Amino acid sequence: MIAVEGIDGSGISTQSRALARWLEGTGRPTLLTKEPSRGPVGRLVRRSLRGQGQAAGLGESAMAALFAADRLDHLARIVEPALAEGKVVISDRYLLSSFAYQSLSVDLDWLRQLNRRARRPDLSLHLVVATAVSRLRRLKRPGDERYEADDHLARVAERFSELDRLLQAELGVLVIDAEGSPSQVLARLKAAVVGMLP
Ligand code: TYD
Repeated sequence: MIAVEGIDGSGISTQSRALARWLEGTGRPTLLTKEPSRGPVGRLVRRSLRGQGQAAGLGESAMAALFAADRLDHLARIVEPALAEGKVVISDRYLLSSFAYQSLSVDLDWLRQLNRRARRPDLSLHLVVATAVSRLRRLKRPGDERYEADDHLARVAERFSELDRLLQAELGVLVIDAEGSPSQVLARLKAAVVGMLP
């Protein structure tokens, strides 16, 4: 299982798609998936991220617990069955996102407890861009969500880089320079994953 991680606007969705397509092209059955997931808990989390209805009022501890619950549901419904079929699973966001985003307001030890039953990925590809680049990329798409204010994202980026060191072994973190064209970034991702694939 490969997780693709980073701050909003670092190109995670684009690169996850491109990586999955490339893997398929090399003859490896691949499943591309995403968190928050499309399951019942994931839908609730998305409503909260968009500030919709009652979900808008969920506090940070409740959100941390919901992200973890969504992850366990996502694993059971989507990820584990695909791995059992021998597929390579690419997840657009996973554990490192929870640890980086939620630990700004919630204790990291508690977050790790909440996520203890979630499978550790073989690799966490952390896409790194300067916050100014993330900002430009985010301006091209509609609607700011809960965690997307510029100053907040700068703090999330700092937390990501602390966690890269702290959780390097546990999550298999590899830091990837995600500035430049999509094809340049994809080339770096391919170089990073090719060694660990069957
Ligand atoms: P994102 O992945 O950008 O999804 P979309 O493209 O559908 O908007 O948004 C998810 C947001 O949720 C993003 O700001 C990161 C945040 N997030 C967490 O805070 N914790 C988590 O565990 C996950 C998976 C995401």
